[in-house]
Amino acid sequence: MDHAHSASDGDRPPRLAVKGVSRTALAAALARAAHQVVDRAEILRDTLALEFAGVTASAFDDLDRVDVLFPPEARLFVAARQRIAEDALAARSPTTQVVILGAGLDTLGYRAAQRGRRVFELDHPVTQRWKLDRFAAAERPLPPDLRLVPIDFEQDTLADALARAGFDRTAPAFFTWLGVVPYLTIDTVVDTLRFVAEQRAPVDIVLDYSEPLHVLPEDRRTRMRELMTFLEGLGEPWLTLLTRRHMAEILRACGFDTIQDAAHTDLLRKYSTTYTGENYDSHVVVASRSKRPLEHTANVGDHSRTEP
Ligand SMILES: C[S@@+](CC[C@H](N)C(=O)[O-])C[C@H]1O[C@@H](n2cnc3c(N)ncnc32)[C@H](O)[C@@H]1O
Repeated sequence: MDHAHSASDGDRPPRLAVKGVSRTALAAALARAAHQVVDRAEILRDTLALEFAGVTASAFDDLDRVDVLFPPEARLFVAARQRIAEDALAARSPTTQVVILGAGLDTLGYRAAQRGRRVFELDHPVTQRWKLDRFAAAERPLPPDLRLVPIDFEQDTLADALARAGFDRTAPAFFTWLGVVPYLTIDTVVDTLRFVAEQRAPVDIVLDYSEPLHVLPEDRRTRMRELMTFLEGLGEPWLTLLTRRHMAEILRACGFDTIQDAAHTDLLRKYSTTYTGENYDSHVVVASRSKRPLEHTANVGDHSRTEP
């Protein structure tokens, strides 16, 4: 079995996950906003993207600068993972609860709650306060069906946080976990998936993850190292990278019975008429558990941080 990989080189202990306002949440929101303007929403139409990112369309007038700050490869991927989640949710019954793990400045929760879905958005409290300030500045009252649930995934229990917020463990649920897995420790990733799979009704999760450096071609490895150094400088280091096989093993062991995994380039070729790149570093997974949850979750393997 493959091992989970520490995202950092060497034996340095990982730095803790984000404690302040998440700069990567802002970057993802700006990528979706740029996609609305520069790519004319080719993959994802998000009517609130600009507002939640705190910009107007003129922020993207300088196309060369946009391509440097939010390269097409990255902003199309952010749009595509969101599109997959939104399409999958649209296919679920209106009574399905929605849980957005590591929501950042995501607008799906707000839009879905406006349409009457019960939505739970979880994120670090500082980032949630920042989002609430944005709602207040835009004179947007929180929809009654939208709950903002503060959490530190590394310190707090997802079960307790959701229970306190009124989440129903016996009703169908749909989870999104976009742009978050790499920032968490492998134990938290596994515990979260196990919790999701143990919902006592049908459950789906849409997530994305990235592959460890050692399986990437040399040029991609170099770019990934640069990105990881940048993220570490932001105080939001990547802690967990997984091979496709290992991710599938974890999902199956947790009890998911349907797993669809699409790599970056395959996704973008499907959704975009302009994308021509080659990048298999990142994947989007739609995993579902339609059968009864396992009584006792199977052993999900050795998650040591050691390189094989
Ligand atoms: C790259 S952003 C993605 C945000 C959003 N899902 C999106 O796609 O726009 C990562 C998000 O995960 C949250 N996050 C990372 N580690 C966390 C932790 N330990 N506890 C709570 N939230 C965390 C950050 O605050 C941030 O909002």
